[in-house]
Amino acid sequence: MARSIIIKAPAKVNLGLAVLGRRADGYHDLNSIMQQISLSDTLVLTPRLRQGWEFFCTEPSLAGESNLVCRAAALLSREAGCRLPGVRITLFKQIPVEAGLGGGSSDAAAALFALNRFWGLNFTLHKLLDLGAQLGSDVPFCLYGGTVQVMGRGEILEPLPPLPFHWVVVAVPAGLRLSTPAVYRSLVLGRQSVPPINDLAGAIKEGDCARIGLWFQRESVNTLEEAVLPACAPVAALKHRFKEMGLSPAMSGSGPSVFALVESYSVASMAVRSLLEEGTRAFLCWTVPGNFRKDGVENV
Ligand code: C5P
Repeated sequence: MARSIIIKAPAKVNLGLAVLGRRADGYHDLNSIMQQISLSDTLVLTPRLRQGWEFFCTEPSLAGESNLVCRAAALLSREAGCRLPGVRITLFKQIPVEAGLGGGSSDAAAALFALNRFWGLNFTLHKLLDLGAQLGSDVPFCLYGGTVQVMGRGEILEPLPPLPFHWVVVAVPAGLRLSTPAVYRSLVLGRQSVPPINDLAGAIKEGDCARIGLWFQRESVNTLEEAVLPACAPVAALKHRFKEMGLSPAMSGSGPSVFALVESYSVASMAVRSLLEEGTRAFLCWTVPGNFRKDGVENV
C-alpha cells in the first residue's frame, strides 16, 4: 500500500507585476516576478481501501469537487489512464483565500506533485508544468517555486537566482476577498502603467539589495493596483499604514493582500504585532528558495 505524504503548499507574492495587454483568449499578457514565501497550506495524503479519492478541507467554503486539488487529481488520473490506489486528501488551509497570494494555485501544484509520487506515476516536472498550466495561470510557477520571472499568461518561466533572504510582512484587510477575474475586467487598458520588471530582474540577477530596495520606493510596482486602489479603500488604507510604519508596501497579484520586504526581524515583527492589534490579518513570513519543494515533502 502507498505511504502517506505530507506536502507544504507555499504562498507567493508578486515582487512586480506588469499587465501588458489583453489577449484574444481573454487572458492578459504579463511580465511579473513571483517569489515564494514561508506562509503555507499543507496537504496530507493517506491511503484508503476504496479506489478513487476523497477530499476534506479545513476551510468549509473550499470543500467540494470544484476545488483545484480535486481538479488536479482528476486531470492526473485521466492522464495516467489506469486504476490507481485510493487516496484521502486533506487540505489544511492557512493562506488567506482570494487575497492575491496564490493559495489555490499552490494547493493545485502541491496536489500534482504529491499525487504523482503517491500513485507512482513518475511524470516529469515538464509534464507536470504542462498539466499545471491547464489548471490555472499561476500553477506552473507554484510547481517551480523560488524566485521566477513569469511571462505570457503565466506559463513562460525564467528562473532567477534566489532573492537574498528577506522577512516579508504580509497583511490582508479583515474579511476582504477579491475575485481575480473581476479585478482584471475592471482594469482600463491602453493607459495603464507598465512597471519596468526587467530592471528588477537585473537587480535580482546581480544580488543587488540596494537596487531591490529602491524598486519598492516606486509609487506602484503592480499594474493591478490601478484597478483595486480607487475602488477598494481598505487596501489603500493598508498601504498607507505600512508607509506610516516605515515600510515600502506593494499589493500582491490581484489583491487585496499587501506586503513589504524587510531586512530587520525586529522591524518586521513589530509591524506585524501592530497590525494584529489593529484587527488586520497579518503574517510574519520570509522568502523561501526554489528547492523548498524538495524539502517540503515528507513520506510518513
Ligand atoms: O488562470 P486562472 O484561472 O488562475 O485565472 C483566473 C482569472 O484571472 C482568469 O479567468 C482571468 O480573468 C484572469 N487572468 C488574466 N490573465 C492572466 C491570468 C489571469 O486575465 N494572465
